[in-house]
Amino acid sequence: MASDKITSPSLNGSLNGKRILLGISGGIAAYKIPLLVRLLKKSGADVQVVLTPSAKEFVTPTVLEVLSHRKVLCEIFPKNDAKGDWTAHIHLGEWADALVVAPATANTLAKFANGFSDDMLSVLFLALRPDKPRLIFPSMDGEMFDAPAVRRNLERLRTDGCIIIEPDYGALASGLVGKGRLPEPETIFTHIGQALAEPLWLKGKCVVVTAGATRERIDPVRFISNFSTGKMGFALAEAAAAWGAETILITGKTHLPTPPAVKRFDVESAEEMFQACKLYFERCDVFIAAAAVADYRPECAAVQKLKKDSDSFTLTLVKNPDILLEFGKQKRPHQVAIGFALETDRAIEHAQEKLVRKNLDWIALNCANEPGSGFEVETNRLTLFSRTGEVHELPLMSKRDAARAMLKLTLSCLDSRSKKN
Ligand code: C5P
Repeated sequence: MASDKITSPSLNGSLNGKRILLGISGGIAAYKIPLLVRLLKKSGADVQVVLTPSAKEFVTPTVLEVLSHRKVLCEIFPKNDAKGDWTAHIHLGEWADALVVAPATANTLAKFANGFSDDMLSVLFLALRPDKPRLIFPSMDGEMFDAPAVRRNLERLRTDGCIIIEPDYGALASGLVGKGRLPEPETIFTHIGQALAEPLWLKGKCVVVTAGATRERIDPVRFISNFSTGKMGFALAEAAAAWGAETILITGKTHLPTPPAVKRFDVESAEEMFQACKLYFERCDVFIAAAAVADYRPECAAVQKLKKDSDSFTLTLVKNPDILLEFGKQKRPHQVAIGFALETDRAIEHAQEKLVRKNLDWIALNCANEPGSGFEVETNRLTLFSRTGEVHELPLMSKRDAARAMLKLTLSCLDSRSKKN
């Protein structure tokens, strides 16, 4: 495949890790979209292609599946899927950072403008979270584009908050010349970049994130652990990498996929996590401890499986190293240390005590007993405390959004710190 020969137009930012729903409706210009998929994939975006039934007449699902590395969606009720995922549109609506529709035909515009939802693309247009950008590239013959109904629908979509990119003027498939040409893939890519690319605020910085739960072995088949899934730490690593940082993610056992452009180390116990972190203490600019590290481990792990011979059983535990505390002790003035406090009671008091004791720059408080916060959920509500007395209460939001909001606040100090200090 000629993948390396494709040169992406330069973007003022990064699409790394951006999740894009790419809708294709049935216009001849659909032939340009496989190249757009290549450009988006090359820039690190995750692309889910959605075809309208008539788009299949112009471009094959196969070529798009090969290029996007994802199954192309078309019908709301897929006929060949025995299991049938009838809620796929809702998950994708939550998943995506943006919807891009190119080419958008008059028919698809009419559906979007009037709330119709009789194919996967029009359903997704409605299911996408309202705060996410919808970029629409209309393309059709010049007369059609000028038709009052099309103009009306475009106007309504603009009012609804969609970003409409006007088609180019030039030769049309009909042989006529007029306004209606779909812009070239490079131009569409640049528009997507303008709407979506994230600033490279952390370029040149090294960010280390710990995530997930550690496991402390009791014997070969049992361990002590906790309910952490690693989602918050993975979201932080994803955001740091998207903002251009060299990002190291040191994680306990989890099934989460590695975020794009992140260097990941899997560890089991607190001691292993500590050893992995120590390798990066020196050179990192930011250390974010989002892992739920076990405070204690069994004094010695049994070599053979323990038998249930007696009615009671006593396990002697010894203290694990506190990784963040160690980093806090060693850190130099240009380095930033950020910790988490997951609390159930006297939350603010405990968070502020940890901020001082561990010599942190920031601590993010979340409450385990608050609905939508803490372990095993997609959302979090964080309150951030800084060593200089700043307090920021973030609303309940997805962990991905919370990670970006948290990094923006906590790392605003980075540039003012000099490595010479
Ligand atoms: O003291 P506590 O465990 O509540 O502190 C929580 C913070 O310290 C979290 O940021 C956690 O990742 C970090 N921590 C650590 N090593 C430990 C225990 C906690 O890095 N052994």
